[in-house]
Amino acid sequence: MEAVNIGLLGFGTVGTGVVRIVENHQDDLRSQVGLPIRIAKVLVRDLDKPRGVSVAEDKLTDDPYAVIDDPSIHVIIEVMGGVARTKQYLLDALARGKHVVTANKDLMALHGPELMEQARRYKCDIMYEASVAGGIPIIRTLIDGFSSDRITKIMGIVNGTTNYILSKMTEEGASYLDVLGEAKQLGYAESDPTSDVEGMDAARKMTILSTLGFRTEVELADVSTRGISSVTLEDIRYAKRLGYALKLLGIAERQDEHISITVEPTMVKHTHPLASVGGVFNAVYVYGEAVGETMFYGPGAGELPTATSVVADLVAVVKNLRLGVNGLHSSTVYKPKKLKSDEQ
Ligand code: NDP
Ligand code: HSE
Repeated sequence: MEAVNIGLLGFGTVGTGVVRIVENHQDDLRSQVGLPIRIAKVLVRDLDKPRGVSVAEDKLTDDPYAVIDDPSIHVIIEVMGGVARTKQYLLDALARGKHVVTANKDLMALHGPELMEQARRYKCDIMYEASVAGGIPIIRTLIDGFSSDRITKIMGIVNGTTNYILSKMTEEGASYLDVLGEAKQLGYAESDPTSDVEGMDAARKMTILSTLGFRTEVELADVSTRGISSVTLEDIRYAKRLGYALKLLGIAERQDEHISITVEPTMVKHTHPLASVGGVFNAVYVYGEAVGETMFYGPGAGELPTATSVVADLVAVVKNLRLGVNGLHSSTVYKPKKLKSDEQ
């Protein structure tokens, strides 16, 4: 192998960041994996759309199987979004022996176990660090960093768009719709921002974090979810007068075999560190029986922070590929277990 060839599915906000980081940090990446990394093909929907960063015209394609079937491609990076069609692309890529890196929480929350199983079957890696909390390496932290502990609670702000909206409404009295428009412009919001503002995006992320943290298969349907679309400036001002900030919080708790997960707008005392998490930033608290309380903080969305996590996964995949092993994320064992709530 002379170089690692990447097939990039999607060239929007995150895909652009991936190309920039692979280009700008090429020497540093090469020194870590021992080979040059090349973006070999890029899947887009619209071949004529102007792009923030250029790739050679002959690398662009609107045919997914021109990427998936290309025998020279070693790793597929999926940053196109979507569920059913994208899942099939990734199952097919894994069946062709290609390793996968994805930022797609919708897909991983709904079909993570099936994709993991396919990865194991074909001895490939599938990694998805960017799917939760953008630039915060929370997934490898849960899998690896806390492998020795028993996690009892995961709590935090895991959606950048809603935190950006609530922060601007609180600090500037800005209107909900104006700030949502800004979050779209800045590339923070999903292509359909309903999933951000109605809490589904955060619920998907809490499903992934809970599955990994509690080492059991948590279903998206088990997350009780409420978003911020009905939060008014008046609610925010009232909370502020009482000494609280309104935040969209995800809280997952385990007591014995019972797990409860909620996503909802929550009054956070202004002295609590989560109250001062502003803009597009995320913060995740992890409580372990042995370690106690830990907190992770950083940008939760956006081009370069998200691409940082994607390319970190790529480095991990290539290191494994060179060693001939499969690692970290795909070796996580999911133990399907019914939640107490299923029995009621
Ligand atoms: P964008 O909408 O900016 O980009 C999507 C890209 O995929 C576009 O280049 C689009 O092509 C291409 N695409 C979409 N559907 C198809 C299709 N059917 N066939 C071919 N190409 C297709 O999305 P983002 O970059 O913001 O997000 C990508 C993924 O990363 C999503 O899963 C998202 O949830 C996740 N993510 C995003 C973050 C962010 O901050 N934006 C943070 C963390 C995760 P074209 O350009 O031609 O339209
Ligand atoms: N739309 C998501 C957010 C992108 O705002 O958090 C990062 O997952």
